Amino acid sequence: MTTNWYNESVFYELYIRAYKDSNGDGHGDFRGAMEKLDHIKSLGVDCIWVMPHYPSPLLDDGYDISDYMGVHSDYGTLDDFKDFLDAAHARGLKVITDMVMNHTSDQHPWFQAARQDKNSPYRDYYVWSDTGTEYADARIIFLDTEPSNWTYDKVAGQYFWHRFYRSQPDLNYDNPQVHEEMFKAMRFWLDMGIDGFRVDAIPYLYEREGTNCENLPETHKFLKKMRRMVDDEYPGTLLIAEANQWPEDLLPYFGTTEAPEFQICFHFPIMPRLYMALKKGDKTPIVDILNRTPQKPEGTQWMTFLRNHDELTLEMVTPEEREWMWQQYAPNPRAKLNLGIRRRQIPLLDNDKRKWFLLNALFLSLPGAPIIYYGDEIGMGDNIWFPDRHGCRTPMQWDAGKNAGFSDAKETYLPVLCDDAYGYQQVNVVVQEDDPDSYLNLTRFLIQTRQRQSALKTGEMEWVETGNNSVLAFRRHIGKEGVLCLFNLSNQPQTFTLKRERVDLLSKSQQALSGTLTIASRGAHWLK
Ligand code: NOJ
Repeated sequence: MTTNWYNESVFYELYIRAYKDSNGDGHGDFRGAMEKLDHIKSLGVDCIWVMPHYPSPLLDDGYDISDYMGVHSDYGTLDDFKDFLDAAHARGLKVITDMVMNHTSDQHPWFQAARQDKNSPYRDYYVWSDTGTEYADARIIFLDTEPSNWTYDKVAGQYFWHRFYRSQPDLNYDNPQVHEEMFKAMRFWLDMGIDGFRVDAIPYLYEREGTNCENLPETHKFLKKMRRMVDDEYPGTLLIAEANQWPEDLLPYFGTTEAPEFQICFHFPIMPRLYMALKKGDKTPIVDILNRTPQKPEGTQWMTFLRNHDELTLEMVTPEEREWMWQQYAPNPRAKLNLGIRRRQIPLLDNDKRKWFLLNALFLSLPGAPIIYYGDEIGMGDNIWFPDRHGCRTPMQWDAGKNAGFSDAKETYLPVLCDDAYGYQQVNVVVQEDDPDSYLNLTRFLIQTRQRQSALKTGEMEWVETGNNSVLAFRRHIGKEGVLCLFNLSNQPQTFTLKRERVDLLSKSQQALSGTLTIASRGAHWLK
C-alpha cells in the first residue's frame, strides 16, 4: 500500500465494550477483541476505528475522557492495547483510535483543579462565565437533555461552557497550553504505533460572540497546526474529521494543498438521504446532495456510512425532511433521540434483505471510504428502550450460547438482545457462517467485490441519465476502466437499456448482459 492507503480502504467501527469479554466481567476488552480479529479480517476491511478506550466515568460512553494516556480498566491495560495493535498489524489491519479534543470529562484532573482554584493554571483550560449568557447563538446539540450550553458550577462559582453533556466541559482552545496537551496525547498513541485518529466534534473547538460557534476560522487555524505537527513528526498518519455539517462547510476541513487539515471527512449529509431515497423510491435526494458536494482537494477522501454508534442523525436535512423521516422511520416516538433516530440499520429496513442489499451495494459503490458499524455485518437489531444511544450498542452476537458467546459473566454491561426477530438465538455469526445468503456472507461478498475494482475505490463518478427517478445510475471509472452501478429504488421492476454487453459483478452467475435489462424491484447491479 502507498501512504494513501486510506483513500481506498474499507473501515470497521469497533466498540470494545461490546465485542468480546475475555475475563468474564461482563465488559468487552482488548484481549477479547484480539480473539475476534480474524472475524474482522474475514470481512475484507482494511482499518479498524476503535471507539474511545480511555479511562472515563462513561457518562457519554467514553467520549468523556478523564485520562488521555490510559486504557479504561474494563477494557484492559496499556499492554493489552499494544498486543491488540500488534495482532491487528500482523493481520494487515490498520488501527485508528478516537481523539476527543473538544472536551474532557468533568472528572479529569484538569477540570477538578480548575474548578477548585481560580488561580490554578488549569482554570484557563476551560471556558468560564459569570453570567452564562455569552454565545447565545450556539445551538444545543443534546437538546433532549441539556437546557443550555452553560452550567453553573458551585465549586468554581462560575458557569462553564459545554457543547455536549454538562459532564463534558469544553476545553479552551484560546489557551495554547491546551494545544500542547492534545499534541502530547496524540504523540503518546502515535509513538505506540497507531495509524491515525478519528477526531471527534471538531467544529466546536472555539467560541466567538455573534457566531454560531461552529467552523470558525480559529478552529481551522488550529487544525492546520495539528496536521503540521502530525505530518512533521509522524508522516502518513491518518486524520479523519467528525464534522456533522453541510457539504460546503465540510470542505474547509480538508484544508488546502499547502495547508492541509484532514485527509478524510465523514460525509454526513449523504447518509440520511440514502434512507430517504429508498423509502421514497426516488433517487432525487441522493443526486441533489452529491451535486451540491464540492470537488474535494486531490488526495483526500469522503467517508461514507449507513449507521454508527450514535442516533441516525437528521441534523443535515431540512425541518420538513426531518419530520418526514421521523414519520417514516420512527413511528414510535421512543425511537426519536435529539435530532435523530436511535435504531440500527436492519430494523430501519424492516429486516428486508432486498432493501438491505440495495442500500449496501449503493453505499459500497459511492465515492468515498465506507465504514461498517460492528454488528451490522450480521444484521443486528436494537432496543429503543435502553437509555441514550445504548440500544444500538448491545453485545456482539457471536453464537447461540450463553450471552451470545460474548461473555461468561452472569450479567453483561447491557443485556444481549433476545427478542424474536433479532435475538442472538437467531442472529449470530455462527449460524450465518454457513449460509451463503446470510447478511454476513453478503457483506463479505460486497466488500470483497468492491476491493477488486479500483474504479469503485478511487474512480471518478459520473451520473448516467436513466429518464426514470426510480432508477439511480452512475459510472465509477479510472480512465476507460469502469463499473456502471444501477439501482432500482422502487418496489416495481424497471427497465434500463445497456449500450453494450456487460457482466454483472453482483450476480453469482456473472452472465453477460446486453440490450434491455429488467431491474427487479430493489435490484442492484454493478456492471463491468
Ligand atoms: C460525537 C460522538 O460520535 C458522540 O458519540 C459523542 O456523544 C459526541 N461526539 C460528544 O463527544
